[in-house]
Amino acid sequence: MTIPVLGLGTFRLQGQHVIDSVSMGLELGYRHIDTAQIYGNEAEVGQALAHSGVPRNEVFVTTKVWTEHLGRDQLIPSLKQSLDKLRLDQLDLALIHWPSPDDAIAVAEYMETLAEAKSQGLARQIGVSNFTIRHLEQAIAVVGAEEIATQQIELHPFLQNRQVAAFCREHGLHLTAYMPLAYGKVMQEPVLQRIAARHGATPAQIALAWLLQQGCSVIPSSTQRANLAANLQAQALSLSEEEQREIATLERGERLANPEFAPRWD
Ligand SMILES: NC(=O)c1ccc[n+]([C@@H]2O[C@H](COP(=O)([O-])OP(=O)(O)OC[C@H]3O[C@@H](n4cnc5c(N)ncnc54)[C@H](OP(=O)(O)O)[C@@H]3O)[C@@H](O)[C@H]2O)c1
Repeated sequence: MTIPVLGLGTFRLQGQHVIDSVSMGLELGYRHIDTAQIYGNEAEVGQALAHSGVPRNEVFVTTKVWTEHLGRDQLIPSLKQSLDKLRLDQLDLALIHWPSPDDAIAVAEYMETLAEAKSQGLARQIGVSNFTIRHLEQAIAVVGAEEIATQQIELHPFLQNRQVAAFCREHGLHLTAYMPLAYGKVMQEPVLQRIAARHGATPAQIALAWLLQQGCSVIPSSTQRANLAANLQAQALSLSEEEQREIATLERGERLANPEFAPRWD
């Protein structure tokens, strides 16, 4: 299965909140769920998946390997634990969540081990997240661009990450946009509000449609049924060239996910 373009994010959602969000999402038609070892919710995501009745081969499940599990001896056991929590035999996609802080562990070591996890059948596809161009070059040198199913990065109208996005396009790397709604901030943006009014849509839907039209997958999160449904419907929108150009002017380098262990961004 290729990566479905519209997925459901689960960052920050814990306990019953994540169970409800994933259950509602699956009911509404989402078939792509994005979690991570550090989110502490893989078991609840697994519970919601198991109780949904959606056949396993119809849903695409991603998890991400945390920075403390990047060593040669930790990575594969950590993915086996993720599979146990998720109640799955195989992930659809396993990502390196962040490059090793200060590059304490070499890209070659964890990309080789991730490729080994794939060949052992733990994941159907592998990829990366929060990689800079330098990290991407190293990853490509180790496993080849065709083995990297996606690079998941923060992308929204206020952070368009143009350098790394251009590098990915040049090398045929698919992009997945995380925080595509700038954690809800898109709702207050006047240009997006104006375009939304023209389409009888919401600014959130416009932000998602804009990313989808660039060929990205998007993984918005929501705890509200109405928002989950609206985000799914963003796929039906089509923005004009002029509208896409207007949204491109909203770039302001506003990075929301920037922990102290982040790499030096491009
Ligand atoms: N790889 C990484 O390092 C990384 C980092 C961050 C995030 N991610 C992934 O990306 C996913 C998305 O990012 P995110 O959850 O941080 O932020 P987001 O999806 O940009 O925004 C979520 C926020 O927007 C609100 N919202 C959602 N749909 C809406 C709508 N239609 N109208 C108005 N408000 C709406 C939600 O509130 P309600 O709940 O009230 O709807 C929530 O407060 C995460 O869940 C995670 O899976 C990955």
